[in-house]
This record gives sequence, C-alpha cells and structure tokens, in this order.
Amino acid sequence: MTGSAPSTDLPLSGKVAIVTGTSRGVGVGIAHELLRAGATVIGCSRGELPGLPGAETVEGGAERSRQWVCDQGQIASIEAFVTRVVEEFGRIDILVNNAGGTVPSPSPEAVPELVQKIQGSPRAADEFERSALFHAFAVQMNLISPLWFALRVYREMRNQDGTGSIVNISSGAGHPAGAPTLVSYGAAKSGLDHLTRSLAIEWGPTARVNCLALGPTMTDNFQQFVLGEDSEGATYFKDVPLGRAGTPAEVGRTVVFLCSGQADYINGTTIEMDGGMLPGVLYENGLKAITDLL
Ligand SMILES: NC(=O)c1ccc[n+]([C@@H]2O[C@H](COP(=O)([O-])OP(=O)(O)OC[C@H]3O[C@@H](n4cnc5c(N)ncnc54)[C@H](OP(=O)(O)O)[C@@H]3O)[C@@H](O)[C@H]2O)c1
Repeated sequence: MTGSAPSTDLPLSGKVAIVTGTSRGVGVGIAHELLRAGATVIGCSRGELPGLPGAETVEGGAERSRQWVCDQGQIASIEAFVTRVVEEFGRIDILVNNAGGTVPSPSPEAVPELVQKIQGSPRAADEFERSALFHAFAVQMNLISPLWFALRVYREMRNQDGTGSIVNISSGAGHPAGAPTLVSYGAAKSGLDHLTRSLAIEWGPTARVNCLALGPTMTDNFQQFVLGEDSEGATYFKDVPLGRAGTPAEVGRTVVFLCSGQADYINGTTIEMDGGMLPGVLYENGLKAITDLL
C-alpha cells in the first residue's frame, strides 16, 4: 500500500481493487467511488496515461491509484497487468470488469464501415467478413475478456485470506426480450449475466461474483453516439420512468455497496440499474444518432 492510509471507518479501507476501462466513461466513476470508499485502485486501458483521470479530485486518490496499460483482448496483457498489481500491492480484493461496449448497427448482416470503425473491430472490405468480425469483437470484449480477467484474478484470490469480490458490468441489452441493433452485444451481456451466476457457484466462498446491468448512463460516448442531436434526451428518456440517464458516480456507489460488508451475503445476482426502463424500448432512439452519421 502506498500514500496516506485512508480512515479505517471507510467501507473498503485497505482493499486493493482492479477496475478495467478507466480512461473515460463509467469506469472513471467506479474508480473514483472505490477511492472515496478507501480502496486502492489500479485502473487500465489500452493507451498510456499519466494517471487515473481525475483521481486528484478525491482525497488521497492520486496516491492510492494507478493507471496502467492493459488490452483485455490479449491474454498476455492481462497476465502481465495482474502480475504487476500483485507484485506492487500484494493482493487483489476486488475486480470490476467494466471495459466493454459496442455501437448499434442498422442491420446485423451488413455492418457499415463507419459503425465498424467506431466500434474498433478489425477492418474488412467485404461486407460479410466485416459483419462477422464486428460481432466476434463484441462477444470478445463483453463476455470472453471479462471471463479471462476473472480467471486470472481468481488465481490470486484463491491463495488469499477473506472473500474477494468480482463485479461484472452488464447492460439492459442482455434482457431476454432481445436487443435489436445490438444483437451480438446483447447476447454477450446476457452471457455475462449467466457467467456471473455460474462463477458465483463455482467460486464461493473464495469470491462473491455479482453483476450490474446498466441502462442509459451518461458518458461522453453516450452523449455523442446515442443521444446525438437529442442532446437533452427529450425523446430518449421518455421511455425511462425516472426521465434521465444514470451517472457513472451512481454506478460506482452501487459497486462500492456490492464490494462492501453490507453485501456479504449477496452472490451470483444481476442488479438492473436502469431507472426502471422497460426492456426493448430504447433501440430505435439509440440507433438514430448512428444513422444520422451514416
Ligand atoms: N454508458 C452506457 O449507457 C452503458 C449502458 C449499458 C452498459 N454499459 C457498459 O458499461 C461499461 C462501460 O461503458 P462506457 O459507456 O463507460 O464505455 P466507454 O466510454 O466507451 O469506455 C470504455 C472504457 O473501456 C476501455 N477499453 C476499451 N477496450 C479496451 C480493451 N481492449 N482493454 C482495456 N480497456 C479497454 C476504454 O479505454 P481505451 O479506449 O482508452 O482503451 C474506456 O476506458 C461497458 O461494459 C458497457 O457495455 C454502458
């Protein structure tokens, strides 16, 4: 542990947490709330950054955080990152599998080049090949990579005292009602919910494994690629009973709850955190910002 020790009254004081995908968006909100709750947080993303963004806004946050490079699409990168965390901090109490996401596509079988480019999957001139690679990438980033991270972190947790906590960040797109425009992403997130339950059964009491299925959550990408010109969300949020998007900080506070002693007997569950939105209502609105760009 480095830096000034946080008050022992804090719920996660002394805990070491990994959060994936902390260069922007929801991951930053999760990391900040874990820091506020007293944890040491090691975040990661694919590019080099000078530190965890905004950590200095939390008391002692800059000292108790790191931001290191890790590409969760590469097994060797996960191995090197987790090994480094254990070498520097001695243990891992918390893993938040947050990195992920995708972009809506007007049709599953003909993914446009621009949609593929925004998502970041490998390029291909051929429409079938491009679509196939787009869907494979969505499943890799939203299901397989979180499983890889969990497998690697569990190897540490099983050799430690206490019960670790793994939280997977899922999506309302995984609802059994289906996810038109987000077919592979929805299937991957649905798989993540199922994986949560299975790993909880396999790994208790060494680790508790839970999941948070997010509805609309306000980030720069959400603003740009989902709301688009409907920047206040007047059309979008009419289908959300609470009339707004959630915030990364709200997600972070629920993650803190799930990792704290308050949730010691919560295991294998998926909490829907979506303002009460009904399944399947948001896909047309969500696609509009992308079709406007095409
Ligand atoms: N925002 C929403 O409305 C919403 C709704 C439902 C579910 N979710 C879920 O919430 C999570 C976070 O979403 P977000 O909206 O915050 O997305 P975002 O703004 O696109 O941020 C994604 C984060 O993941 C990182 N990342 C991407 N690929 C990575 C890789 N291969 N290895 C390591 N890090 C990687 C990105 O960093 P770099 O690009 O710098 O590597 C970035 O920090 C995702 O799992 C998403 O499915 C979000």
